[in-house]
Parts: sequence; structure tokens; C-alpha cells
Amino acid sequence: MSTNSIASLSFPAGHCVSKAEFSVGLFINGEYSPSANRETIDVYGPATGKVIARVPAGQASDVDRAVDAAQAAYETVWGERCSGRERGRLLMKLADLFDEHADVLASIESMDNGKPFSMARAIDVPEAAACLRYYGGWADKDHGKVIEVDDSKLAFERHEPIGVVGQIIPWNFPLLMFAWKLGPALACGNTIVIKTAESTPLSACYATQLIAKVFPPGVINVVTGYGDPVGTAIASHMRILKVAFTGSTAIGRSIMAAAARSNLKPVTLELGGKSPNIIFDDADLDQAVSWAAFGIYFNAGQACSAGSRIFVQETIYDEFLERLTRTVKALKVAQPFDSDAFVGPATSKLQFDRISAHIQSGKDEGATVHLGGKRHGTEGYFIEPTVFIDVRPEMRIAREEIFGPVVVIQKFSDDDDIVAKANDTIYGLASAVFSRDISHAFNIAKRLHAGSVWINCYNQLNPQVPFGGYKQSGIGRELGQAAIANYTATKSIHVNLTQANPR
Ligand code: NAI
Ligand code: MG
Repeated sequence: MSTNSIASLSFPAGHCVSKAEFSVGLFINGEYSPSANRETIDVYGPATGKVIARVPAGQASDVDRAVDAAQAAYETVWGERCSGRERGRLLMKLADLFDEHADVLASIESMDNGKPFSMARAIDVPEAAACLRYYGGWADKDHGKVIEVDDSKLAFERHEPIGVVGQIIPWNFPLLMFAWKLGPALACGNTIVIKTAESTPLSACYATQLIAKVFPPGVINVVTGYGDPVGTAIASHMRILKVAFTGSTAIGRSIMAAAARSNLKPVTLELGGKSPNIIFDDADLDQAVSWAAFGIYFNAGQACSAGSRIFVQETIYDEFLERLTRTVKALKVAQPFDSDAFVGPATSKLQFDRISAHIQSGKDEGATVHLGGKRHGTEGYFIEPTVFIDVRPEMRIAREEIFGPVVVIQKFSDDDDIVAKANDTIYGLASAVFSRDISHAFNIAKRLHAGSVWINCYNQLNPQVPFGGYKQSGIGRELGQAAIANYTATKSIHVNLTQANPR
């Protein structure tokens, strides 16, 4: 690979963008480079299964280089050297550039990840910009307080940046997760070494050319590569002082262990889920059905918050199933650039195989495939929207995160029954309650062990609202003011205001 390798993507005739050409090297200190051993990763478009670009397969020594750059930038141009006001201005400028380049960013995202272009354009890109803008607003607004200790002394808190932080992101919302990580870390004055997912690096690669127009070199360093060695090098790096990860619970565990073994860096983990979506018999059924379908089939089910366990009160089970069936049959599974596509392909061959194995396990364990259950078409990694019924709680499909367009539907009788069933999981990321009785819904919401509860809606994520998991769905919260705390070191400064002797 040359030092300035170019990705060249061509989009279907008639699409709003015909072509995208951009550098795809490791982005370290504002410059593009190949990996230390010049190895590359083939990047696939999951709608066709064909290679669409190659990016460097970063190595541990590349992470070292990125940390050097981040540290130098922290000491010279960022951190305490750059005012909150200026950091905020730059974050908002990057947000504006994301908006200006929304068509091309969404097109790249759609081709690399497989999600419908219409979704990437309506959700991923504008939400990424909104997140950067939101944290731009925070950059000059996070202050410590003054504590009057006694009549002769006071103490005050300084909210300082941590320094060089490491971030590892997944492939389901590549640009949005990039923004969720960048926003709070930069607002607080940290510099960044971030690893993109090996199957979906391209939108962040494109974004580096926008970053280069706004941020000083070294503030944001993007290392493409595999989990091992790039992710492992970040998690165990002695000069990376905090790590944030989004991905599987298994890898989250190994990141926490690596952090513990190395320099005890604090971790935030945003992990898997098996979120319950609870439909009471007094729900507005049309509303419940459409949100339930959106809750599981949005992003082809590849969302940590996916409403993958639907629980229906037994008195309305038949009617709910009939209406859901109609809705699911109407969902359009199609090529990402088709304007009415709703369900795109699984993001990779690996993910397609994992989802297919889960569907097979459901069949083997005796559940009934009510809808779907098969590959869609012959090209790419499409899977039909799938509904399992006759599901027992101990089945794998009822317990394990599938991360695909597959939902299991179960019945419940009353409040105690549903609270027990909903909470019977190692996860606790999200949940939803559908009922016209808002005080009843609120009482159930209080009893659910989950970081988010949606009442009469699903998958609502806003930059200003904290998001994260109970139990094995994670540690810490992203978004909102909560994420500011993740990237802040609090220093307490004590001041003696008198000539008094020690006491
Ligand atoms: P993963 O957890 O392996 O990948 C997520 C990120 O971690 C990627 O950037 C990957 O390169 C990196 N990584 C992999 N091994 C690492 C290591 N040892 N040290 C540091 N970083 C490492 O997830 P994968 O294999 O892509 O998907 C497996 C399952 O994880 C999915 O089926 C799904 O259930 C869950 N998942 C959850 C996500 C979420 O949003 N919470 C996102 C992606 C996957
Ligand atoms: Mg890809």
C-alpha cells in the first residue's frame, strides 16, 4: 500500500452521489500512513459480498505512534492549552461539516455497513452531527464547585481532562458510534486514539478528511485494524489513561481485564442486550405493533438496544400476533440504495453466519418459525425478518443476543409474572412498556433492571439523555452529562485563607 491509499466507491446510477474518493490510511498526527507491516484488510459491501476497499491493518507499533501523536497534541495544543470555548467551536464546526457532507457520508455508510441509505441519511449522519454539536455546547460549561470547608479554608474542584484516551467502536452504527466517542472526550479536552471496526471502517476514514480541516494534528488519531492487535494494544497501553468500548460482552470483559492488568485505566463499556418489549392488554395495539417491529427490525436487528424479546399479555396475544404478522410481511427487504428498503443485509459474512446459527438453534430446540427464518435472495447477506413463537425461556434464542432480524414472542399473565420474565437475563440495556395507563407503565418501568425504558415507543436515543446498561450490558453511561464525567479528572485544590497555624 502506498502512503496515501485511496478508496474509490461508485454508487448506483441515479443516486444523489455518483462516486466517493478518499484517503484510507491510518490517520495519525494529521497524516495518512500504511500500517507498520503494510498489511491491509479487505472491506466488503454486505449487499453484494464483494470487496469495496482496502484499509491498513494497524499493528501495536502503530498504536504507539498514535499515542505519541495524541500525547504531543495534548501537551501543546489541546488539553489545558485550548479553551473550552475553542474546543466547542471546533466540535460544532465538525458537526457542520458532517451535515454538509451528509449525502456522501450516508452513501459510504450504506455501502459499507449495508443499512438502507434512507436510514443512514435520516438517522446516522444527522444524529452524529447532533451529538458533536451537543458536546460542543458542553465544552465551556462543565465546572467544579467551591466547597467552603471551614471559616479559614475553602476547596475547589477543577474538572481537568484525563489526557490520552483510547476508544474502540463496533460496526452497527459506525459513524454514530464514532461521534458518540469523539464528542464528550474532545469537549473535556482529551486527545484520542480510536479504532474503527474491521468490517466498517470507511465512514470514519472519510470523516478524517473533515477532521483534518478542523482539528490540530494529533488531537484525533484513527487506527484501522483488527481487535487483536489494535484493540488489545489500546486496552493494555500504559500511556492510554482511559478506555471506552462498544461491542460484545465477551470482548468488554477482556478489555476490562487488560485495563486491570496494565495501568488500571478506567473503562466504560457499552455491551450487548436482550431487551424485553412488554405489551399490556390496554395498549394502543396499532402503536405497539409498529414500534415493536421498528424495535427489532431497525438496522436489521443489529442494535444493542434491539427489542428482541416481545412479551404480550395473554389476553391479546392472538390479536397482537395477527397484526404484527401483517406489519412484518409488509417490511421491505431490499438493496440498501432502494428508496423503500427497510431491512438491509447483515453487516458481514461472519454476522450472517452467527444469525443463521441462532435461527437453526431455535428450530432445533423446538420453537416455531412463524415468519421468515431463511436467507433472502442469493446475493449478499440478507436474512428475512424472522418471528419465533412457542418459545420457552431456557432456549438459546430467548437468552442469547442474536444481533439480527430475529424476535421471540412470549406470553405473560400479570405484573409480577412479566417483571420476573423481563428481568430474567444477564443483560439490562433497554426495555419498553406499552400501556394506555401511564401510571401503571411507570410502575413497571421502575421495576425493570435496564438502563433505558421506553414507554409507548422504542429505540429513542438522544444526545442529551444518558444511555447504558445494567448488569452485563455495561459499565458507565454514554451521552448526556453522564459522558462528561467519563472523560474528566476531578482535582480538589485546598486554599488556606488565613495565617492560622495547622489544624
Ligand atoms: P466485538 O466485540 O468483537 O467487536 C467490537 C469491536 O471490538 C471491534 O472494533 C473489534 O475489532 C474490537 N475487538 C475485537 N476483539 C478485541 C479485543 N480482544 N480487544 C479489543 N478490541 C477488540 O463484536 P463482534 O465480533 O463484531 O460481534 C459479536 C457480537 O457482539 C454481535 O453478534 C453482537 O451480539 C455483539 N455486538 C454488540 C454491539 C453493541 O452495540 N453493543 C456492537 C457489535 C457487536
Ligand atoms: Mg463492510
